[in-house]
Amino acid sequence: MQVFNTVNEMQNWCTDQKNQGKTIGLVPTMGYLHEGHLSLVREARRQTDVVVVSIFVNPIQFGANEDLDKYPRDLSKDLEMLEKEKADAVFAPAAAEMYPPGYNSFVEIEGQVTAKLCGASRPGHFKGVATVVAKLFNICQPNRAFFGQKDAQQVLVIEKMVRELNFPLQIVSAHSKRKRRPGHEFA
Ligand code: PAF
Repeated sequence: MQVFNTVNEMQNWCTDQKNQGKTIGLVPTMGYLHEGHLSLVREARRQTDVVVVSIFVNPIQFGANEDLDKYPRDLSKDLEMLEKEKADAVFAPAAAEMYPPGYNSFVEIEGQVTAKLCGASRPGHFKGVATVVAKLFNICQPNRAFFGQKDAQQVLVIEKMVRELNFPLQIVSAHSKRKRRPGHEFA
C-alpha cells in the first residue's frame, strides 16, 4: 500500500493507473476509521481495479463552534486497518497542502438540497464538503467514488455537484454499517 502526502505525487500515481487502463475507486474519509468505512473500501475493491482512500480532516467543513482540534485522529491505526483491507493507496495530505496560503476557490451548491437539516444548522458545512470532494476528484480521478448512505444529505449534495459540474465519474452510495466512535460526532 502506498501512502502519499502531496497532491502531485497522488495525482501522478492516479494518472499512471489510468494510463494502464485501470479503474479507480475513491473512498473519501476524515480518518479515525471504523467498520462503516471499511465496508466502503470492500465495496470499492469489488467494483474497481484499484482503491484509493483519502484521509483528511477537512478544516473548511467545520463551523466556528465546532472544535476541529478535538476531532479524533489516529493515522497509524487507520493505515494498519487499510493495509489489512488491501487498499492500494492512501492520500493523507496536510491542511496546507490542500489549502495553501492565499487559497480562495470554493464550490457552493445552492437550492433545496442544502437549505435544510445540516445545511441549515451548520452554515458553510456543505460548501466545505463540496470543495474538498471536488479537489479529491480532480486529484484522484476516480471512476467511482464511495460514500456512506447514512449521510444521505451529503450524498445528495455530492451527486448534484457531480451532475451539474460534469465530473466524469459515478457516485456509489453504499450501505455502511456505521458505528460512530466517541467524539466522532462531526463526521
Ligand atoms: O463524510 C466525511 O467523512 C466527509 O464529509 C468527507 C466526505 C470525507 C469530506 O471531508
